[in-house]
Amino acid sequence: MSVVYIRGGRRIDGELTVHGAKNSVLPILAACLLAGGPVTLTNCPHLTDVTAALAILRHLGCQVEQNGRTIWVDPTGASGSAISEEQMRSMRSSIIFLGPLLARMGEAHLTYPGGCELGPRPIDLHLAAIRTMGCEVAEDYGIHCKGKPVGGDIQLAIPSVGATENAMLCAVGGTGITTITNAAREPEINDLQNFLNTLGAKVRGAGSSTITVEGGHRLTGGKFSIMGDRIVAATLLSACAAAGGRIRLQGVDWRHLATVLSVFHQAGCQVMSQMEYVELRRDRDRRLNSVPTIRTAPYPGFPTDAQAPVMAALATAQGCTMVVETMFDSRYRHVSELQRMGADITTEGRVALVRGVDQLHGARIEAPDLRGGGALAAAAMGAEGISVLSGLHHIDRGYEGLEHMLQALGGCAERRED
Ligand code: EPZ
Repeated sequence: MSVVYIRGGRRIDGELTVHGAKNSVLPILAACLLAGGPVTLTNCPHLTDVTAALAILRHLGCQVEQNGRTIWVDPTGASGSAISEEQMRSMRSSIIFLGPLLARMGEAHLTYPGGCELGPRPIDLHLAAIRTMGCEVAEDYGIHCKGKPVGGDIQLAIPSVGATENAMLCAVGGTGITTITNAAREPEINDLQNFLNTLGAKVRGAGSSTITVEGGHRLTGGKFSIMGDRIVAATLLSACAAAGGRIRLQGVDWRHLATVLSVFHQAGCQVMSQMEYVELRRDRDRRLNSVPTIRTAPYPGFPTDAQAPVMAALATAQGCTMVVETMFDSRYRHVSELQRMGADITTEGRVALVRGVDQLHGARIEAPDLRGGGALAAAAMGAEGISVLSGLHHIDRGYEGLEHMLQALGGCAERRED
């Protein structure tokens, strides 16, 4: 079994360019089904979820090539309308293929998606949006959709990222005008809109709560560069806040991290941000201050994906921090692993109380899910001694060579066979 050995307890110093965003490249790969010619994507991260998405595109008849961080997709030969259960179970993002597949083929046959165990991951809003665009949706032994999407007024009860993306893609591939109200405002939605418009689509409003799509336009191929991954950046900043030292991260827009940077500033870190980089300094000789409350929320609120890594950094802060996870029912599975390292954290439902301790110590720890794995790596960077981190199949879904990133920042981390 592969594990990452991390020797923590000392300050780090380094800089790196953050790789492309998992939660942007995945919907954009699904959107390639709508392109009228070859698409070239640059700044694509090497992640197992990306590999899974490429396998789905090939299964559907697309030609796909990957060379370094460039992916080339030619969807002109696409002919399939069904995605296997195994492929659907490989990640949550497999559901994002529903909208473009239905719009392109006039039918789509999928099963329920997989992904991190964060509690129930319903797709009712995705299916309701597709019904609003006039398509039939049957749920028996899987999901079976038929019809050509026509314009509709979609009201999302929750600003769901995935449902917003599915609705956008279905509407771009359909006809008529579609409005999506209470749309998610995450930066990855902007990236998707910008990609679609590069192909000749007419999408407006991403970043606001109302997105408008003018369907019926024949799309071309095109070239697009994926935005930097703000959650990977938040994880690395958490590692520096935990260990002490100085790191500079390029390739990510600090505005996408504003709420996370604010927490680290309140905790006593020095944070500097320019358009092209973010820098964090923390004096290891001075304990972090706890932050009264961290409440996750849809963007531009505090990102749920950064909750675990930031909690790990605050596990040794002076005082208590209350964390309220409003987005998912079960997103504290990293807590028991942090407790193995000496953390003093109590959870009750969606609330966690983090009582800062003087120091964490190294331990054998296992990633329970993707961002929990990032949190444990951040904690290990600040912990005295050696930690052995397993569960890398979770981590490799969203971090491209996490151990290499930690090394580049001056940390002592190495992947080995255990
Ligand atoms: C996306 O997941 C991200 N994944 C998640 O990141 C992220 O945590 C989440 O958005 C919230 O920001 C990708 O983009 C691939 P949602 P998604 O639909 O789209 C409920 C990571 O670590 N809901 O915005 O699945 C849902 O249960 C991953 O990179 C419904 O009730 O999240 C949740 O409580 C983890 N019905 C809330 O909405 C639906 O039909 C937000 O979920 C859909 C969602």
